Amino acid sequence: MATDSDVLAALMSRRPGFSLPQPFYTDAGFYDCDLRNIWYKDWLLTIAAPEVPKTGSFVTLQIGNAPVLIVRGADGAIRAFHNSCRHRGSRICAAERGRNAKLTCPYHQWTYDLDGSLVYAREMHEDIDPADFGLKPIHCETAAGIVFICLAKDAPDFAPVKAMAEKYASPHDITNLKVAATRSIVENGNWKLVMENNRECYHCAGSHPLLCRTFPDDPNLIGSFEGTSVTVGEDHVRRCEAAGMPSRFYMEPNGQWRFVRIPFIGDACSYTEDGTPAVTKRVGQVPFDNAGSLLFFHYPNTWNHMLSDSVTLFRMTPISPTATQVYTTWLVHADAEEGVDYDVDRLTRVWIQTNLEDQAVVEENQRGILSPAYEPGPYSSLQETGVIQFIDWYAATLQQRLTGRSNTMAAE
Ligand code: FES
Repeated sequence: MATDSDVLAALMSRRPGFSLPQPFYTDAGFYDCDLRNIWYKDWLLTIAAPEVPKTGSFVTLQIGNAPVLIVRGADGAIRAFHNSCRHRGSRICAAERGRNAKLTCPYHQWTYDLDGSLVYAREMHEDIDPADFGLKPIHCETAAGIVFICLAKDAPDFAPVKAMAEKYASPHDITNLKVAATRSIVENGNWKLVMENNRECYHCAGSHPLLCRTFPDDPNLIGSFEGTSVTVGEDHVRRCEAAGMPSRFYMEPNGQWRFVRIPFIGDACSYTEDGTPAVTKRVGQVPFDNAGSLLFFHYPNTWNHMLSDSVTLFRMTPISPTATQVYTTWLVHADAEEGVDYDVDRLTRVWIQTNLEDQAVVEENQRGILSPAYEPGPYSSLQETGVIQFIDWYAATLQQRLTGRSNTMAAE
């Protein structure tokens, strides 16, 4: 299996502006290096706060080898824990989501409070101190109603993300929305191929006929650099900002995350087949229907669309060198009534279709990269600036972590 030295050597020899050498997309050692240096160290978007609406509501997810449990406590706080029992390590919650008054391990019934403290361990010796065996916490922050976690022992500063998320997303009031639908698919492709595909619309005209009815595939609008985005979307940005919605392109200095509000094509208001709203009740304080989409990506695992009638969150988690889970959540106004104010099928159809189309192109990309004939090819400087930006962030981040300070998971 490739070592970190092999990864570093490959990084140093990569050709900027070209796709990565084959092992970055296929090799178990390179994948393990990604987990340890990216996925176990960076903030990751997980759920919307309304996905755990009540005391004891929980969601589970898997980040590489780390099972994670996110639960709302009796005090209303949302916390994250390693989903691994302090007795002999069993997963405590296997369900994807649910609600419990306490967290009881199914193996021997050790029981934890919602704040992670051990409250019951039957027939153990008296010298076991429960305070030593609480669930291991994971850094957990909520920003604008979106829950992020970080598995690192020392998490990067979250304050800039939180401040900017609350500024840009506040008109959508995610905290007070409700979940209308969720969908999970597994794409048989390396996680970086999933993100690369997301960061360009070079493929959209050929792959996404439904999405292209409303979503502009102009790279000058959805690219990754302020000059291009502002030029084409300037009128829309000015109109939205004048109405109180922060909209202007903002990218974090290291390029890890970005906000920008873009217009839809023509009079379209939502990602529906005819562009009309999917929900009759607008979210939050968005002042008009044709507010376009507030785009928010945060590497390594998420891209999102915040509209006037709904918010759609996308997160991915790596499963193996060549498989990635993509999870989609649709949120609507808490008072919107299914069958009256919206139809779930109409609300979700475009992105369900688009996700399946993306799955197909990612899987064909992976199959072709597995070929012994594969070699890195050039990204388009007109159409794939977002991909170039992502790969440059990835390469710079990994290189810095392989050569700089070490960091370890909180559980280690
Ligand atoms: Fe959880 Fe034994 S492993 S109670």
